[in-house]
Amino acid sequence: MGHPIAFEFAARLAEIAPAGLDRIFFTSSGSESVETALKIAIVYQRAIGLGTRTRLIGRERGYHGVGFGGLSDGGILNNRRVHPMVPGADHLRHTHDLDRNAFSKGQPEHGVELADDLERLVALHGAETIAAVIVEPVAGSTGVLVPPRGRKPLSALVGGHLSAPHQRCGLTRCHLSLGLKQLDDLSIWS
Ligand SMILES: Cc1ncc(COP(=O)(O)O)c(C=O)c1O
Repeated sequence: MGHPIAFEFAARLAEIAPAGLDRIFFTSSGSESVETALKIAIVYQRAIGLGTRTRLIGRERGYHGVGFGGLSDGGILNNRRVHPMVPGADHLRHTHDLDRNAFSKGQPEHGVELADDLERLVALHGAETIAAVIVEPVAGSTGVLVPPRGRKPLSALVGGHLSAPHQRCGLTRCHLSLGLKQLDDLSIWS
């Protein structure tokens, strides 16, 4: 059961989303969306027989709301200092690179290779332990961090089925089409 407008809105979102993104799950906040997406990622891995994939990977300086999963994957020191964390969470390096990108206009030229930091985490933990990687295309909570030019699909770096790249910014911080172009497996909008 649900209100007809929710179904109508879901259908309209699916129309503007890339092909294949046609399952829409509404929540009440960004934080709840993050927790839901992380849980879906873990449950999905288990459902396809990859139950060892439970680790959540975030990014330094990332903000993913106030739930335990979001705080654990978030990379803001003061938030991390005061909260107990979901075990096993680890973090990619952030993309704030003033030495190379100071005074950039628009998207900075340098830094797309920082996505390769995921390979370091895969080498450290094993791909078979990673359920989800969650990143903001445009980070906003420790200063606005515009992503460098270029894009590397994070799921390819982990191998196999991933996870929950974070797309909260698709409808707000980025132009809609930019957000959608950056889509991976699971997208979070608010
Ligand atoms: C990237 C990101 N994720 C999650 C959240 C949490 O959203 P909410 O405040 O609606 O719980 C925010 C809030 O600013 C955010 O910027």
